[in-house]
Amino acid sequence: MAPPTGRTIGILTSGGDCAGLNTAIASIVNSGLRLGYTFVGFEKGWEGLLDPVMYRKLDANSVRGINHLGGTILRTTNRGRFAGKVGGKGGYNAIPADILKMAVGNLNKLAVEGLIVIGGDGTLSAAMQLSQFGVPIVGVPKSVDNDLSGTDATFGFSTAVSVALDAMDKIHTTASSHERIFLVECMGRHAGWITLHAGLAGNANAILLPEFDLDVEGLINFLRKRSRTMHSSIIAVAEGLDLGQQQSRVPSIKTSEVRLHGAADRLMDAVEERVPGLFELRTVVLGHTQRGGAPIAVDRLLAKRFGVAAMEAYDAGRFGMMVRLKDDDIGLTTMKRARGLKLVTPADPYYQTARKLGVYIN
Ligand code: F6P
Repeated sequence: MAPPTGRTIGILTSGGDCAGLNTAIASIVNSGLRLGYTFVGFEKGWEGLLDPVMYRKLDANSVRGINHLGGTILRTTNRGRFAGKVGGKGGYNAIPADILKMAVGNLNKLAVEGLIVIGGDGTLSAAMQLSQFGVPIVGVPKSVDNDLSGTDATFGFSTAVSVALDAMDKIHTTASSHERIFLVECMGRHAGWITLHAGLAGNANAILLPEFDLDVEGLINFLRKRSRTMHSSIIAVAEGLDLGQQQSRVPSIKTSEVRLHGAADRLMDAVEERVPGLFELRTVVLGHTQRGGAPIAVDRLLAKRFGVAAMEAYDAGRFGMMVRLKDDDIGLTTMKRARGLKLVTPADPYYQTARKLGVYIN
């Protein structure tokens, strides 16, 4: 493919996928075409910008019919040479200068003048480092976890909540038929927003968040008391719940984050060790189902608004900024500010509502 000509912007999606990415890509392209820009999409996140470059032209035809599709037509990765984040809260990788220079060189070769990048905290951290090399960049936040401090919401989150909610609705009936306790593990590495919202909407009886310590004895007492009158329970468990040793690292895989697994299983074991046979427990891990499928309406609307606003910000030369939602208004914030983690606190209205309804919440 011959390099494009004119004012060309590169788009890329990086980090974990979520519902709404394609909606955002289509919105950037469709609004930018009206302003006279042309586009290329770099594939597999930042990797597509590095040797050997992987990109494709994005025009009205290539973004037709993708609005409702889950995933990303550009593909993505949360590992690789540009991984901007390393495991743990707030730890960020410095990307080697030769890698950043390679990206700048490839943009120049392709006559791509700047980038609109769609991603979470790791992506924004990488974008900030590249923008220090003079690349004009505007960021679009995305995260199923909804844990970016610079924005009230990210697309992908509401779809993930609705997937988890649907699962909980289904689990309620089998739980009550068998008089069992189900531990339903939801995504949420550092922030328990999916667990809190899906758990509250889905009538979970306990909601266990990664932000706070868990008193296993306290949970057992709650379940014991509850079992005098109610014979089944749903416990919404965030995958990042700290039970010690719940994280595993696969040394052969170079990923930007520690891979989490098994919080619900570990909790089940911890309960059974203390009170063997007292409850009949089962676990369900919702995992990547929460990231897949068609975006629900609210995520499509947010992705469209973010896409159009990012294009406008780029056109206005507001580089180094990220679009964000605040009180239902779309505005801009610096990528640096946006990158911090937004965590659940006991003052949160959803947390408070759960507490006041008698939900056990750590
Ligand atoms: O950050 C989003 C997220 O979905 C987390 O909730 C989860 O821990 C992680 O990504 C999973 O990443 P991977 O796709 O590498 O398994």
